[in-house]
Amino acid sequence: MLTPESRGSLSEAVLGAMRSGETSHLAEAPPSDTAEDAQLTLWALYEQHYRGFEDVAGELEWDPQLIGVRRGLEQEFERTLRARMPEVPEPDGFAEKFFDFVADHDGPSLAAHVHRKATEEQVRELLRHRTIYHLKEADHTTWVIPRLSDRVKAAVMELQFDEYGGGDPNLLHAHLFIRGLQDSGLNSEYGAYINEAPLEVLEENNAMSLFGLNRRLRAASLGFLAAFEATSSGPSRRMAQGLKRLGFPESMIEYYTEHVEADAVHEQLAVRTICGALLEEEPDLHDDVYFGAWTSLDLEDRYAERMLKQWAA
Ligand SMILES: [Fe+2]
Ligand SMILES: [Fe+2]
Repeated sequence: MLTPESRGSLSEAVLGAMRSGETSHLAEAPPSDTAEDAQLTLWALYEQHYRGFEDVAGELEWDPQLIGVRRGLEQEFERTLRARMPEVPEPDGFAEKFFDFVADHDGPSLAAHVHRKATEEQVRELLRHRTIYHLKEADHTTWVIPRLSDRVKAAVMELQFDEYGGGDPNLLHAHLFIRGLQDSGLNSEYGAYINEAPLEVLEENNAMSLFGLNRRLRAASLGFLAAFEATSSGPSRRMAQGLKRLGFPESMIEYYTEHVEADAVHEQLAVRTICGALLEEEPDLHDDVYFGAWTSLDLEDRYAERMLKQWAA
């Protein structure tokens, strides 16, 4: 993947520095022009820890100036996310309260739109946006694994083993999505559609990296995972039905039907065995589990609102 197009003064300065390797002037980097400018910059800085960019030298992954910019952006982003949070349930009876918290959350549903009304063009746009996450599906959770106790670590590994295809590269969830993209005539190269990713998609992806890459936020990462899995099975069924209605290829439909069953299991594992065990060991992390869960639900709402509004216009 090559570095994306800039979206303002900050991304222009940082992406330029990444390409040239000249980062010394970044201590006086300009402020971001817009939230999109800031989020694109943060996305590119995080991406250095995943697959990186062909036009950026590998040494820059830990360049102190770039890490400094990343630190400033992520502090601001974390403040914004925390300010959006509602009150969280009491800590007793965690799993039931958590499932209720997710079930009571009533946001706009893209899957319902795809199921009944979306046009083929709208679904193709949605799939292009989803590539930003699905082509590195589950990777953000992998960052957390060394930060956990043996008991929680084993449970996360059970879930991740599934996401990574149970040892078969053809069954990796990211690979299932690649096959669906190819058969649908979409570009399956990693990061191919980053230049059209809207703010809300950048925020969703950056929240996952923020939680995954900061040890102190490990509970938020696992809470994000739990809410994500707990809101996947039903919507995946509706996505599959909508794709079928529109005549998408079988492989694209299969990516979603795979998640109907897998995530019905994953939600139990993530809520009870992963977050439940984490909180038995470290009860002080209770609110952070909800911080991650809320962020997952809220950022998906924001993305859905944006797209539904755009398509209605
Ligand atoms: Fe998956
Ligand atoms: Fe899953």
